[in-house]
Amino acid sequence: MSNEEQVEYWNGEAGKRWAKEDATMARLLQPVCEALLDHAGVEGCRKALDVGCGGGSQSLLLAQRLGAGASVLGIDISGPMLEVAADKIARTDDSTASLGFLQADAADHPFEAGSFDLLFSRFGVMFFDDPEGAFSNLRRALSDDGRVAFSCWQPLAANDWTRIPLQAALQYVELPAPPDPNAPGPFAFANPDRVRQILGDAGFANINIESHNREIRFGEAPTLGESVRQLAEIGPVGRLLMDQDQDTKEKVFSAMEVVLAPYYRDGALLMSGAIWFVTAEVA
Ligand SMILES: C[S@@+](CC[C@H](N)C(=O)[O-])C[C@H]1O[C@@H](n2cnc3c(N)ncnc32)[C@H](O)[C@@H]1O
Repeated sequence: MSNEEQVEYWNGEAGKRWAKEDATMARLLQPVCEALLDHAGVEGCRKALDVGCGGGSQSLLLAQRLGAGASVLGIDISGPMLEVAADKIARTDDSTASLGFLQADAADHPFEAGSFDLLFSRFGVMFFDDPEGAFSNLRRALSDDGRVAFSCWQPLAANDWTRIPLQAALQYVELPAPPDPNAPGPFAFANPDRVRQILGDAGFANINIESHNREIRFGEAPTLGESVRQLAEIGPVGRLLMDQDQDTKEKVFSAMEVVLAPYYRDGALLMSGAIWFVTAEVA
């Protein structure tokens, strides 16, 4: 089986943490999803696949955008996040596309060939061990007029919301090993040349990668301390702290509070996010 580490990660503590934070994540990432939908102009699509759909909040936004008569299928490997996603189905009505969810690995799930006309994702396609293989599998699931629209993160260092907390954390925790920039993870698609090559090799053309920078409200909470802990739950610091003792975690949180204080306004950490919006068509 491929993607074993990711299956373990998103079904373990991390997946549960994300599931717990779903309502917050939905709120803070909604503007990114709306902007991606505007950018990609997906309205004409009828059968969409939302890859790495997580808690499904962007699947619901997509279903609202596509409207009656269309369908959206969210696919994810994470049981805890799909449990949260299930409640989004109840929020659809006659004016939205029908919505369903599937627990499976998008990299090798045997989709019916040509059964979707849109491959969509908000930050859910950077976790494949073999991205060319995964996108080839997803290409087969698309019809000949099929399209792709997804968002992914630009490099960690270009994202204040990851760079600044990580620098604080590294005062107390060592990086386990120099990270491979292409390793599966949130920043695996940071290099647009690599993304172009993966999509081109998988059978896509007219690949367009546009920079989208915006302020994002991270860690919405009544105090700076709580906001910092929320940010640590979802960002790379969370991965770094997974095997650390409570004392070290507290030291890291305190160091984060110092560097993040200037960003805490109106009950949230307002920090810049550097994102790629990627669109492509079946070649
Ligand atoms: C960063 S989260 C994004 C979740 C959601 N799209 C959002 O924007 O809130 C990445 C998601 O990709 C999922 N994922 C990772 N590898 C996957 C795979 N091979 N097939 C399907 N889903 C996968 C994870 O379980 C996780 O839910």
